[in-house]
Amino acid sequence: MVVASAPGKCILFGEHAVVYGEPAVAVAIDQRVTISIKTHQKPGATWKLEGVPFIAEKHPHLEGLRKRLWHLSEQTPSLDIAINSKLPSAAGLGSSAALSVAFSAALRAARGRRVDEKGWCEGFSSELKTDPYNEPRRGHEAGFIRNGGRRLLGKDAIDEDECAILAHAIEAEVQKGRASPIDSSTVSHGGCTLLSDDFEKGLDWRYSRQLSTPEGKRNWEVHDVPVPQDDVWLVIGNTGKYSPTGKMVERVASMLAAEPERMNEIITIGSIARRGADALKKGNMEAVGICMTENHLLLRGLGVSSPELENLVKAAANYSLGVKLTGSGGGGCMIALTREPKQTAEAIELAGGRSIVTSLGTSGVRIDDDENVPFWTPGVADS
Ligand code: MEV
Repeated sequence: MVVASAPGKCILFGEHAVVYGEPAVAVAIDQRVTISIKTHQKPGATWKLEGVPFIAEKHPHLEGLRKRLWHLSEQTPSLDIAINSKLPSAAGLGSSAALSVAFSAALRAARGRRVDEKGWCEGFSSELKTDPYNEPRRGHEAGFIRNGGRRLLGKDAIDEDECAILAHAIEAEVQKGRASPIDSSTVSHGGCTLLSDDFEKGLDWRYSRQLSTPEGKRNWEVHDVPVPQDDVWLVIGNTGKYSPTGKMVERVASMLAAEPERMNEIITIGSIARRGADALKKGNMEAVGICMTENHLLLRGLGVSSPELENLVKAAANYSLGVKLTGSGGGGCMIALTREPKQTAEAIELAGGRSIVTSLGTSGVRIDDDENVPFWTPGVADS
């Protein structure tokens, strides 16, 4: 049995605009997705998810990772999968990214990773020439680089960059080529992540990510932002209205295709995100809150808010430093940055929303159990 978990995330600034290369900031939240895998029956038997046969089309995130890390051509054993999620799905809290990151960690822990004195012999990362973004070639499914070496197993085989890049590749596949790495990087590394179109002074740079989207090539520089040590909380208000990210991202893309001058609004969101990130670096939470509220007004103008979100935003505003929708909008969740979490949560509940209180910037992907690994011994690729 291998058990892995990853947190959800809240975007403080820059959703939607980040898909077009503008900056964005997100924090990992306390609520997590936990996934357990164990082997079942013989190789080639149907996988089970929550005790029933796994249907690939219904679970594109799991299927995308299976193709990359657990391909049938490697004589992989069949799996029994169980998911325990404290995150509502399609609600803007990064449940798909958390599921993908946790599942990629579980599969990697269960299969292990070959390394030699030069480093990795297998795997995906921003530095390696292996490509997670396209359907893997036969024999290269797990990112084989060269032969030889010894095998790291369980926790020791996990790499946050690999979990993040795989989750980004899968999100891009599911969102028809339009996905930024803000969700995948935040939930994999935990803490607070800033994506920018440039290198940011005074911050730890992690890596670059590139993606060809239908609107052109994008490049994001991914940074780690120290989480401010302040007695401040995020209260999440869930409208309960299901809103898949892909649909909202596509809606914004169609709007921009029809009215290209509205790219100015995207650029303005980018400058608010830049100011918000500066305020966060300085630990000025009052200024962070003001930028969040300004960002919300721009998102509302883009048409990604909803009456249900506006209702919760209005209810929480009295008790907060800043309020905004979070994630792709259209439904899903809003967030309030506050020093009065109890009153804010009560105001959200009274207005008909469901509230969740979280600290800012919890830990990222984690292996909670790694008994009896590896699940099988992979052959060596003839690369
Ligand atoms: C979704 O959490 C954030 C969006 O900006 C989409 C993305 O960045 O891929 C709406």
